[in-house]
Amino acid sequence: MKKILAINGSYRKDGVTDQILNAFVQSATSAGAEIEVIHLRDQPIEFCTNCRACTQQSGEHPGECVLNDGMSELVNKIEQADAYILASPTNFYSVTAIFKRFMERLIVYAYWPWGTMAPKYRKAQTAKKKAIIVSSCAAPGFLGRVMYGTHRQLKIAAQSIGAETVGTIFTGLISKEQSPKITEQIQNTINSLTRKIS
Ligand SMILES: Cc1cc2nc3c(=O)[nH]c(=O)nc-3n(C[C@H](O)[C@H](O)[C@H](O)COP(=O)(O)O)c2cc1C
Repeated sequence: MKKILAINGSYRKDGVTDQILNAFVQSATSAGAEIEVIHLRDQPIEFCTNCRACTQQSGEHPGECVLNDGMSELVNKIEQADAYILASPTNFYSVTAIFKRFMERLIVYAYWPWGTMAPKYRKAQTAKKKAIIVSSCAAPGFLGRVMYGTHRQLKIAAQSIGAETVGTIFTGLISKEQSPKITEQIQNTINSLTRKIS
């Protein structure tokens, strides 16, 4: 059975991102996959302190972080999953602050010893897992996807954990109503993307 891990950077309970992830849960479960959603808003995850201790350890396994918080359990879940859904609304042209805070902690996936210029992704050489990227914004979705940093940031997060992005949902024009609902078209896209990762 395929294990899917969804990581949600939305602040808003039952907002668009939550609805999309709930729809993925239904779709993946009926496709016979196991799926877990982690809401970053509920996770005790601290800021990276840039000590780089984790990046000194060589090898493919994520380095050990000096901080003792919820991130180590989340890294274990990332390691055990076969596929990912990485989701964040677009706030001020980028992923949300809680997604960015999580993303910076993914530095454990880089080998970057002192004396070297730039990090190397530990998982770059290994068999790729698959990721689907989800975002939403007030602007039209196709514009948001190209105009904002969100899509690129979510792709980099996927790449750093060893996953190739195989699908994107970037839904737009969702901020006119206080409680927007996802459309049938989004629902259909979710069903077809689920088949790519289940
Ligand atoms: C602080 C803040 C900043 C935002 N910045 C942008 C933006 O730069 N571009 C845009 O199109 N929408 C922007 N939005 C709209 C959000 O993208 C939209 O509310 C979000 O995708 C809804 O996701 P949710 O329902 O999961 O909360 C912003 C919203 C907030 C609250």
